[in-house]
Amino acid sequence: MAESDARWRAIRDALLSADPDDKRARVAALDGLSAPCHPDAPATALAGAPGRPPRPVLLHPRDVPTRGLGSEAGRVALLHAVAHIEFNAINLALDAAARFPGMPDAFYRDWLSVAADEARHFGMLRDRLADHGVAYGDHPAHNGLWEMAEKTTHDPLHRMALVPRVLEARGLDVTPGMIARLEQAGDRRSADVLRVILDEEVRHVAIGTRWFRWLCARHGLVSDATFTALLADYGVALRPPFNDTAREQAGFSRSEMMGAGPGRAPGRQTR
Ligand SMILES: [Fe+2]
Ligand SMILES: [Fe+2]
Repeated sequence: MAESDARWRAIRDALLSADPDDKRARVAALDGLSAPCHPDAPATALAGAPGRPPRPVLLHPRDVPTRGLGSEAGRVALLHAVAHIEFNAINLALDAAARFPGMPDAFYRDWLSVAADEARHFGMLRDRLADHGVAYGDHPAHNGLWEMAEKTTHDPLHRMALVPRVLEARGLDVTPGMIARLEQAGDRRSADVLRVILDEEVRHVAIGTRWFRWLCARHGLVSDATFTALLADYGVALRPPFNDTAREQAGFSRSEMMGAGPGRAPGRQTR
């Protein structure tokens, strides 16, 4: 029992760590860890999470400046934005493992393996930023990813639907366009980094699918209808075009993709 308690504390400490290098080192030590023993009130025990450095400054999404990818400044801004997504993704994976007790061992192993991937993705992007003389934190960013985590702290079924299967799945849709534009601009090294990330994100979304369906079965729910209902409850409309191939590999059913937005019409997040 004591060893299992220590496993939970190690996950929490990685989640609370505000220093990117310390967080990455802690995450590396967690990979392959088996089920932790959660405290009686994990939400209370996770107060103050997640840890993040004082910079980047977090702005409302509409206040984050956007630049075209034709300029080096625009491409650096894009790399910084994706680095911020990956930093948040480390915390999201750790939070899934730390917050939700009573899941099979494989659930915790899956999310700790995702945290290890995200830490590596963050490192690759930070290296690319350094090639341009920019550090993580030099640009402002927004907190949309973590806000969805906060809305879904009460139920792992909601978390699996709305974080991996909405937010991470959105990355599958938009990353091929970023890769193409970076290549057009001659930045092949950054394009290669995003190609690795896109390839590995399919597995993260598939893990979300796996556990979303597992939780639906546990509660006697029809997964396709439940996914569509949750999108409506949270005011989320998915925005086509979709990366159909990657989404199919990640376990989306035809009906989930067809029913995800009204007639697959352009939608927006309203909540
Ligand atoms: Fe990632
Ligand atoms: Fe991911």
